[in-house]
Amino acid sequence: MVNPAVPGAVRKAAAIIRRGGVVAFPTETVYGVGVDGFSAAAVERLFGIKGRPAAKAIILHLAALQWLQAVSRPVPEVAWTLARSFWPGPLTLVVPRAPAVPAVVGAGGQTVAVRCPAHPLALELIGAVGRAVAATSANRSGRPSPVEASQVVAELDGLVEAVVDGGRTGIGLESTIVDLTASPPVVLRPGGVPVEQLRAFLPDLQVRRVPPGTPDGRLVVVEGEAEPVGAEVVRRARALLAAGRRVAVLATAENLERYDELGGVTARLLGSRGDLEGMARSLFTVLRDLEQVEADVVLAEGLPEAGLGLAINDRLRRAAREVVQVP
Ligand code: TXA
Ligand code: MG
Repeated sequence: MVNPAVPGAVRKAAAIIRRGGVVAFPTETVYGVGVDGFSAAAVERLFGIKGRPAAKAIILHLAALQWLQAVSRPVPEVAWTLARSFWPGPLTLVVPRAPAVPAVVGAGGQTVAVRCPAHPLALELIGAVGRAVAATSANRSGRPSPVEASQVVAELDGLVEAVVDGGRTGIGLESTIVDLTASPPVVLRPGGVPVEQLRAFLPDLQVRRVPPGTPDGRLVVVEGEAEPVGAEVVRRARALLAAGRRVAVLATAENLERYDELGGVTARLLGSRGDLEGMARSLFTVLRDLEQVEADVVLAEGLPEAGLGLAINDRLRRAAREVVQVP
């Protein structure tokens, strides 16, 4: 564990990356685990550590906007515009990959994803490395992304050379990914930057909605406004309880009492619908804690598709076996 308050500690972590090693570090979204973005061997090692499918490309993390020209060619004009407006920050741009960037970073394709994280320790680390750092969320493939150093250690202990401890991350879910090589441009993953803010620059921006990502799981998401979602969750919970199933609920504060009244369900608070930022911050920790809850079915409240609600729904969908939408 690297304590960044110790003078020279972050430089030492950067030296590990420079000589081909693997370091986990905080960003403003979630913890990342990174290697030298120009070393194919180091990036391949990173795939191995995470157990990541070879087809899933990795994001290059930059310390400054100007680094874009070292990793993308030709840089789309709109990429500069978006970078100037949102970097450093939770926006990832998919752009044409420069020949100098190893193909493995882009999973063999012609594109590369890039972002400049808004976290002082990430910027210090990448700046000290002196070139782009290929980094991915610091979890084993398919697991919730870590938002504190202890969770990184639980996931990757013994597999990485160092973990820079920056406390809890601010946003709690990952960056928004926009593919600028598609026409029209498309959001591949909603995240820290709300899609509405991007439409000011990209009026024809499309959004890809993910299908349920964990078919063999036990999570069912019910998306919509508080009242109809609460009613649908209660209806489903009653039916499941009557059939002798053990039921847990991921609840918003607005509906928590309704579930307590049911009796016999384990309820966990996701947060308040009036505070989407707070909900985003706690989402992955709640999903992690949920692993310890004994239940046959977990009914999770999803949200209306606006602002950060889009990103929260997306993460719940990826963890879910079924998605239900109510008006
Ligand atoms: O906030 C974040 O983006 C965090 C922090 C650590 O920076 N990183 C992160 O990385 O979430 P990861 O590897 O867990 O997720 C990256 C996503 C994957 O879904 C991957 O398929 C997509 O980005 N991706 C990466 N390169 C791509 C490319 N060239 N084209 C399309 N999608 C890409
Ligand atoms: Mg990830």
